[in-house]
Amino acid sequence: MPSTVVVGAQWGDEGKGGVVDIYAAEADLVVRFNGGNNAGHTVFVGEEHFAMHLVPSGILRGRRCVLGNGVVIDPPGLLQEMRDLESRGVAVRGNLLLSENAHLVLPYHRALDAAEEKARGSAAIGTTLRGIGQAYADKYARHGIRALDMTQPELFRKKLAANLDHKNALLVKVYGAQALDLDQVYAELAPALEELAPLVTDTATLINRALDGGKHVLFEGAQGTLLDIDFGTYPYVTSSNPTAAAAGVGAGVPPKRLDTIVGVVKAYTTRVGSGPFPTECEPDLAEKFRTQGREFGSTTGRPRRIGWFDAAVARKSAMLNGIERLAVTHLDVLDQFDAIPICMAYRCDGERRDDCPNSLDELARCEPVYEEMRGWRKDTTDAKSAADLPAAARAYVDRLAEIMGARLCMVRTGPRRDQSIVIDA
Ligand code: IMP
Ligand code: MG
Repeated sequence: MPSTVVVGAQWGDEGKGGVVDIYAAEADLVVRFNGGNNAGHTVFVGEEHFAMHLVPSGILRGRRCVLGNGVVIDPPGLLQEMRDLESRGVAVRGNLLLSENAHLVLPYHRALDAAEEKARGSAAIGTTLRGIGQAYADKYARHGIRALDMTQPELFRKKLAANLDHKNALLVKVYGAQALDLDQVYAELAPALEELAPLVTDTATLINRALDGGKHVLFEGAQGTLLDIDFGTYPYVTSSNPTAAAAGVGAGVPPKRLDTIVGVVKAYTTRVGSGPFPTECEPDLAEKFRTQGREFGSTTGRPRRIGWFDAAVARKSAMLNGIERLAVTHLDVLDQFDAIPICMAYRCDGERRDDCPNSLDELARCEPVYEEMRGWRKDTTDAKSAADLPAAARAYVDRLAEIMGARLCMVRTGPRRDQSIVIDA
């Protein structure tokens, strides 16, 4: 298939990085279309661990990579990530291109993210404090500074000065925070602007030409469907659309050119940050997952909240994304359990409901209705093919695919590349 979109079907951290890494072996171009360096995509190459934030995971396969117009780019953050990768022998420059139309995350966005979170007090969203929401807010309010502006330093500085006046007023007068100094902010940004400017180009044309030429383009989603600004658990969401349709808007590709939609789910559920989570489990049980599942945020290091698989969430994601193929990750984490509950529906105000409501109040009143699947109590971390999986493990992943009305395409039983079972490529 010439184009494949990989999206998260839960609250992010489904293991998209590892799945993209497997598909990237066959891709010509790997494109990020949403989010910024709030993302943390973990990929293992041999025994080496990479935490990717902005650079698409395809870079580790030597693929040409693009940050599309839907991404927000923190220039010093990106430069640091590029240097870290280059110091480990990964060729980044020459393989990475940035959309002219992508908006920049600037130091005042981060300062405002911190100030706004503090002001929210106990209602804080639990953001990654990367200034993501503030950068998207400026994009839509039409105050944004774009990657294109990095190629014109004088104009850039003018726009920065104008924005900083306004942001400083907010920081000082509304939030009682410290003002930022223009010279200092510019000095902090200048080296990144200079180094990144040559990577800026019309990526929409590049991607469409690649598709014209029969190249395989892989779209790497960040975050997950329940963090979607429109369809997630608002306001406990991120500020972009992690759903599949955003691959079109966020890369400049017509919707009919998106061929295959791959959804990624963890075999259970995790969430970082605040907000509703119907299947969230008790701390003692969560600890059992956390150790085996390495459940700490790869961007912030925060311990992730953990719960059983939620079919209401999964069905919603399947519908919103049009998920045709399903990759199930972290299956090995369930090796330890005798029985594995799946939340098939909710009970809300005395009634059973199969959908995941948009109202947070309603969602807060939803109690999971569980169905138990048999556990397998066998180590799956060395499974090389579907045939190596215990029958109960196979039944479990097949059940998840059935719930989502998708074809199972991949099962992952650990972080290494060779812990991926490709069932249906
Ligand atoms: P923000 O995207 O930093 O504004 O954070 C908003 C919410 O999205 C918070 O709950 C974050 O923890 C969550 N979030 C943002 N990016 C990711 C991610 O890549 N994985 C998981 N959660 C994320
Ligand atoms: Mg992550």
